[in-house]
Amino acid sequence: MYSEKVMDHFQHPRNVGEIENASGVGTVGNAKCGDIMRMYLDIDDNGIIQDCKFKTFGCGAAVATSSMATELVKGKTIQEALEVTNKAVMEALDGLPPVKVHCSLLAEEAIHAALWDYAEKHNIKIEGLSKPKSDISEGETEEEEY
Ligand code: FES
Repeated sequence: MYSEKVMDHFQHPRNVGEIENASGVGTVGNAKCGDIMRMYLDIDDNGIIQDCKFKTFGCGAAVATSSMATELVKGKTIQEALEVTNKAVMEALDGLPPVKVHCSLLAEEAIHAALWDYAEKHNIKIEGLSKPKSDISEGETEEEEY
């Protein structure tokens, strides 16, 4: 049912964790299943993504797609990172079963939410980026204090 690459990234997910003082952090929820994903991006002054980490309350397919997505955006420019769509991630993983396609959206949207956060913090506009509807980041910093 799952490709070898999916199993590999599920069993040995890359880049799990947090980045302290990340340039951008995005948290999104999957409307279909209620799972949650948080993505951290470390972006340097030249707009290159130096590091990317994630955490998820998601299924195996969400773990595998996020793991692959973090690998794909590392070292990329912001514009290149926008091309890391859920389709691109699924292709890199040799596909997902149709019922699991929605899980791959979490990673794409979490990257977009983290980039949105980065743009807001730096008061810039990233061409081609809109705020993901699934963005649930609002107000979370305050809540985390407790
Ligand atoms: Fe929720 Fe896969 S079932 S992300």
